[in-house]
Amino acid sequence: MLAGMTTTDALPRTGRRSVQLTAASERMTLDPFIEVDWEIPIDDRAYHLPPEWLPLYGTDAWEAMTPEARITYSRHECAALCGAGIWFENRLMQLVLRHLAELPVHSPAHRYLLVEVADECRHSTMFGEYIRRAGTPAYGPSADAGELDALGDVPGKHTFGYVLILAVEELLDVINRATMKDDRIHPVSRDIAKLHVAEEARHVSFAKTYLTEVWPTLNEEERQGVQSLAPAAVAIVADLTIDPAVYEALGIIGGEEDARSNPHHRARVVQGLAKLTSFLQQLGVINDASMPTWRDLGLVA
Ligand SMILES: [Fe+2]
Ligand SMILES: [Fe+2]
Repeated sequence: MLAGMTTTDALPRTGRRSVQLTAASERMTLDPFIEVDWEIPIDDRAYHLPPEWLPLYGTDAWEAMTPEARITYSRHECAALCGAGIWFENRLMQLVLRHLAELPVHSPAHRYLLVEVADECRHSTMFGEYIRRAGTPAYGPSADAGELDALGDVPGKHTFGYVLILAVEELLDVINRATMKDDRIHPVSRDIAKLHVAEEARHVSFAKTYLTEVWPTLNEEERQGVQSLAPAAVAIVADLTIDPAVYEALGIIGGEEDARSNPHHRARVVQGLAKLTSFLQQLGVINDASMPTWRDLGLVA
C-alpha cells in the first residue's frame, strides 16, 4: 500500500488496481531515449509496419508498387500512425486530467492517473522523434477529427472517456504487437512498438477495471448517453487508421478511396477492435439494440 492512501473510495476495486498499477510502474517505467536505439537511421532498409496492416495492402495500387516503393510507403504509414498516436494521446491526457481534477488526492487513482499521463507524455515524445527522423511530413489527423472533442460533455462523461481511451489503446495494441514480433520490420519501429505494448498494458488494465466497476453505478440516462455515442466515437478512432496526406505526399492517385474501400483493411480494423467490442458487449455498452449500428459502421463482423 502506498503511504497515506486508502482503498475505501466509492470504487474500491479501481482503488486496489490503482495501487497495483502504481507499484508496477515503479518496477518498470521505460525511457524511450534509452530503450530505442536512435543511432540507427530510419531509412528504407526494412518495412516499418507489417505489410498486411497497411491500408493499401492487397489493392491494385499495392500490386503496382515495386518492393522498394512498398517499404517507403510503410515508412509514411508508420509516421502517420505515430502522428495519430500523438493526437490521440493528447486527447486521452485531457480526459484523464479532467477526471483527475475531480478526484481527491487520497484516492489511489489520483496517484496512478498521474503515472498514466507521464507515460503518455513519454510515448508522444517517442512518436514525435520517429516522425522527425523518418523524414516524412508532420502527419496528424485533420481538423475534422475535432468531432471527438464535441462528444465529451455527455451524461456519464468519464465512462464515455474511458471507452474512448480503451478503443484507441486496444486498436494500437494489436498493431504494435504485430509489429514488435515481426522480424521483417525496421529495428526502431519494433523497439517503439515493444515499449508501447509494455506500458499500455497498465492503461488498458485501469480502463477495464474502472469501466467494469463504474458501469453498474450509472443511471439510465448516463448509460444511454454512453451507448448512443460510443459507436460514432469508435468509428472516428478506426477512421484515423487512414491518413489521406500519405497518398498526397507519395502521389498515389485515388489512394484514400482505395484504402477506405479495401476489404482487407476493413477486416483488419474489425480484428483490431475485437478485444474492445467483446469487452463492451460483456459490459452492456454494446447490446442487442445498438449492435446493428456497430455493424453498419463496420466495427464488428
Ligand atoms: Fe501511449
Ligand atoms: Fe495509454
